[in-house]
Amino acid sequence: MSSSITVQAGLMIERILSLEIVRVTERAAVSSARLRGRGNEKAADQAAVDAMRRELNKLPIDGTVVIGEGERDEAPMLFIGETVGNKKGPKVDIAVDPLEGTTLCAKDMPGAIAVMAMAEGGTLLNAPDVYMEKIAIGPGYPAGTVDLDASIEDNIRALAKAKGVKPEEITALILDRPRHADMIAGVRRIGAAVHLITDGDVAGVIHTTDPKNTGIDIYMGIGGAPEGVLAAAALRCIGGQMQGRLVLDTDEKRARAAKMGVKDPKKKYDMKDMVRGDCLVAATGVTTGSMLRGVRFEKDRIYTHTVVMRSITGTVRWIEAEHRQLEKFHLD
Ligand code: FBP
Repeated sequence: MSSSITVQAGLMIERILSLEIVRVTERAAVSSARLRGRGNEKAADQAAVDAMRRELNKLPIDGTVVIGEGERDEAPMLFIGETVGNKKGPKVDIAVDPLEGTTLCAKDMPGAIAVMAMAEGGTLLNAPDVYMEKIAIGPGYPAGTVDLDASIEDNIRALAKAKGVKPEEITALILDRPRHADMIAGVRRIGAAVHLITDGDVAGVIHTTDPKNTGIDIYMGIGGAPEGVLAAAALRCIGGQMQGRLVLDTDEKRARAAKMGVKDPKKKYDMKDMVRGDCLVAATGVTTGSMLRGVRFEKDRIYTHTVVMRSITGTVRWIEAEHRQLEKFHLD
């Protein structure tokens, strides 16, 4: 078979899968949405995990969970290394966060999503479940406009200059945590605004890709490393820049990372180190946020809102689905 035909076949598979993964995040979102506002984070997460795993196993893929619910000894399902899919398809890496923002869902607050990425086999960073320092901006800026190792002030100034505005017109999105007190103060010191979120930094990073609608120019701060890889996959599809560095501040974490193949514990990863190949990303709203509407239940319909992206073409699709075969969802 000529190489062009091989590429063509690969593209076809990926194209079909971009719709298949929408089903996966839709089901996870519907299952956890039934538990919105019930104050039970674990139950909501478990419902999303069960549904996502069941749907993943129907897909024509030979998948390996690279970013999952945790390491094998602590997560019974969708653990790192678990194989998923019916094995009748391409070898792919899978990154999942069946319920991103468990607290947001349990408290019925804005911005909980079900999210997953699928990438060519062996191309996603095997990140342990530790924290990651992150910085991200949207598309349209020269490479290297911001840098994890530059000061907060320099980053804001450089971004403002590249955008053609004053620092006062820049808004940074940051997780509201005590560990970010200095960062928040630094951003405000040079006159920029800080938009605080309580949880959900995958969506937080994605907000930077559409500043006109979200009002967010830059994401900065420390959040989960698995969420970092998922966000990098989304940025790889939509465009933008992101850097991350694992926070490996104990021997135990360094050993865990080394076991997962991390050679340099201080490495600064850019987006393409975290996601080295082509990927697909889908996210469905669980609770309504500024990016996605949450699941809506009616007497004989369920409505979902999903965004699905494909890096090879840069296509971003927004999918509003009306589900009528409710018996399928009642299995959840
Ligand atoms: P969960 O969905 O696992 O609760 O994670 C929510 C989240 O806010 C992530 O978006 C973020 O990366 C991480 O938690 C931050 O961790 P912490 O709450 O420990 O600061």
